[in-house]
Formats: sequence, structure tokens, C-alpha cells
Amino acid sequence: THQWRGIIEEYRDRLPVTDTTPVVSLREGGTPLVPAQVLSERTGCEVHLKVEGANPTGSFKDRGMTMAITKAKEDGAKAVICASTGNTSASAAAYAVRAGMVCAVLVPQGKIALGKMGQALVYGSKILQVDGNFDDCLNLARSLSENYPVALVNSVNPYRIEGQKTASFEIVDALGDAPDIHVLPVGNAGNITAYWKGYKEYAADGIATHTPRMWGFQASGSAPIVRGEVVKDPSTIATAIRIGNPASWDFALAARDESGGFIDEVTDREILRAYKLLASQEGVFVEPASAASVAGLLKAAEQGKVDPGQKIVCTVTGNGLKDPDWAVAGAPQPVTVPVDAATAAQRLGLA
Ligand code: F0G
Repeated sequence: THQWRGIIEEYRDRLPVTDTTPVVSLREGGTPLVPAQVLSERTGCEVHLKVEGANPTGSFKDRGMTMAITKAKEDGAKAVICASTGNTSASAAAYAVRAGMVCAVLVPQGKIALGKMGQALVYGSKILQVDGNFDDCLNLARSLSENYPVALVNSVNPYRIEGQKTASFEIVDALGDAPDIHVLPVGNAGNITAYWKGYKEYAADGIATHTPRMWGFQASGSAPIVRGEVVKDPSTIATAIRIGNPASWDFALAARDESGGFIDEVTDREILRAYKLLASQEGVFVEPASAASVAGLLKAAEQGKVDPGQKIVCTVTGNGLKDPDWAVAGAPQPVTVPVDAATAAQRLGLA
């Protein structure tokens, strides 16, 4: 009997920890790499989904947070702070509980999904809703961490990137080599930075024979990297990636250019179409921002940018239960029936 031990124990030799580092873990990582049948048929490729919603707090942030909180604890920090569109804060709050630390959270007022707010609350973090967007929250969090005794655990913290790079290790370990293409949603651009670092490290050590092309997708209303300029008032239904001035902008450009990939945008309509396809045809329920990767792959395929026969991994970054409004909206209201088998059978179309 063996269970996955969490990314620090599983990849200890590739992470900045020592024998005395106090590991703070919820046994994150080890997430499913699921073959995507319908997406494979549509693209003529072998498409896999890296289902990061299966992490302890429901998103990929746990990979980075186990490292960031572990190192904060090692440094003697008593409190951590983050700006968030909802997932980073959920993760920071949970790992702070494990570490016995206070967690302060800054979120854009009215712009985070209810499930994520519930997580920050139930884990007992100190939440402030900021009258501004994510970029304002991050500026505020940076300034507080510079002037008060509180450690910043956003992805500008290099330990976050170290933890998140382990997703690439898991993919190569599962497939036996790197994929040809890796597709990701892009918000603050930490994750594309981390995946690229992970792939490069495995290739440098000969564990993978090559690195994939990195394809990133932003939401059209929040696509500063695509536009080449800061978006002052970002908008999109995918609130997780509603970001106008990504902190890891330059690293995202490096990942794109070094890998021979690209960063493009997808509309909210394309995101919602991919969101519904993932749930109804692949059986994988993700939050809207996560569907940006798949929306992007489908857009690229329609544009003829996807040669058949390639191995492609799409990361779906967060669990659909975090933001179920989009699953319920526009769906027909379920029919109410009496406690009667004949009526139920008839309504179900069985009789
Ligand atoms: N998908 C989800 C579900 C996210 O929560 C995020 C980022 C991203 C994609 C984009 O990743 O920022 O590394 O490019 N969420 C951050 C947060 C901003 O505060 O939870 P990125």
C-alpha cells in the first residue's frame, strides 16, 4: 500500500529543500493525466488533460503553495499574504492552517467565484475585498509585504514556480517523454513560466528527449500579453484570469519564444463552449478559466495550426465546483415529479 506523498517528497531532489526543512503538505500533485477522446478525434492528435482540479484545494496552486509555505515556515514567518482572483487565496489559506500561520488575503471586490470565497472563509483567513482589480491587489500585497512582517506567497515568490514546475515532471513521467505541445490558460503568467522551467530541467538531464512548444491563451478582454500592452480595466467571465498586468509577463514571453510556441486569446464565448464540451463530452468539470486552454486548442485546430498525430497536453487548472454558476446558467431547470416510479420513468424517457 503506497499513497502519493505530495510534490516535495516525490520530487525532493529537484526542489530547494533539505533534510531539516519543515515540509507543509496536503499531499498535492499526483493528479490524473486523462486521455481526451473527443478532443483527440477533433484534432487528429493524441490529446491529454492534466486535471489540476484534483488537487487538495481544487487547483494547481497547491503545488506552488506547498513550497512557498514550507519555505516561509523554514524562514520563521508567522504570517503570509497574497493577492488573488480566488484560487491562490484558497490554497494559501489551507496551507497556512497546516503551518499554523496567519493568512491575509486581498481579492478584487465582487470578482471572485463564490466557492473560492467560501474556501478562504472556512480556512479562517483574514480577507479584505479591495475596491480595485487583481493588479491593484497585487500592488497592495507587495507593498504590505515590504513594509510589514508578512511573507508574500504570490507567484512572484520563486518557490511558487519551483513547486508548480513539478506538473511537467509528472507529465513526462506518465507519457515517457515530453509532449509535442503543451497548452495552458494564462493569467498572471506564473504557471506557464513554471511548466517551461520543469520541461527544460527534465530535458537538460536527459529524462525527456525534447521540450514541448508552449501555447498560452488569455481571455480576449484580459489579453495584455497578446496586445503587447497593459489592460487597464480587464474583463472576462473567467474571473481567475481577469488580469491586466501579469507579474511574470517577461517569463511568459521567454517560454513562448524559447519553445517556439505562441500566446493568443480566446473569447468568453469560446471559453464557455469548451467548458461545456469538457464536462458533457469528456466528463471533466473545470472552472471557466481552465477551459481557456481547450478553447485555444480548438481555435488553433480550426485555424489549421495543429498538425495531426501530435501528442498534446492541455492543463485544466481548476475544479468546476469552485464556480458552478456557469454550469447552472442557461441550463433547463430539472423537472419535479411525485414519488412515483411510473411518472419518473416516463419523464426520464425510459417508458
Ligand atoms: N487557471 C486558474 C483556475 C487560475 O486560478 C489561474 C490564476 C490561472 C489559470 C492562470 O495562471 O496566473 O499562473 O497564469 N489564478 C491566480 C489566483 C491569479 O489568484 O488564483 P497564472
